[in-house]
Amino acid sequence: MSSTFHSFRVAGALALVGALGLAASASAAPRVIKLKGSDAMQYDVKRIEASAGEQLEVQLSTTGAMAKQEMAHNFVLLAKNAPVDALVMEGAMSRATDYVPASRKQFILAATGLAGNGETVKVVFNAPKEPGEYVYLCTFPGHYMAGMKGVLVVK
Ligand code: CU
Repeated sequence: MSSTFHSFRVAGALALVGALGLAASASAAPRVIKLKGSDAMQYDVKRIEASAGEQLEVQLSTTGAMAKQEMAHNFVLLAKNAPVDALVMEGAMSRATDYVPASRKQFILAATGLAGNGETVKVVFNAPKEPGEYVYLCTFPGHYMAGMKGVLVVK
């Protein structure tokens, strides 16, 4: 009896996996954008173009020689009206939340965690619907000031 029950459960699980696989292949995958962060505190890609509402997956990889607590990067996309300087300053004090300031959440459209040397972090989001330029930056202390930023251009 128990082995019949077991077979039934396995068949049910396989049917579920099959159904999920079908659903995943039926919906469009996000367009992948690969960024690299370096010890020079720069992104290798400083401009991303997207269509309004397009689903994107940003993958940020860090390569460098320093320990993660000394050098790590994230990708934080801001709303047009974000108070950038204040947000960056508060971010630098928000170590517990990977330097993403919870107090400015309403201005953050997408954010990854921190990628240290050899790590990759990612985030899936929809580009804003309103055309224009949206700043993205790294909130690790000092990096924005060093020029670690770019722009998402929505057309
Ligand atoms: Cu950085």
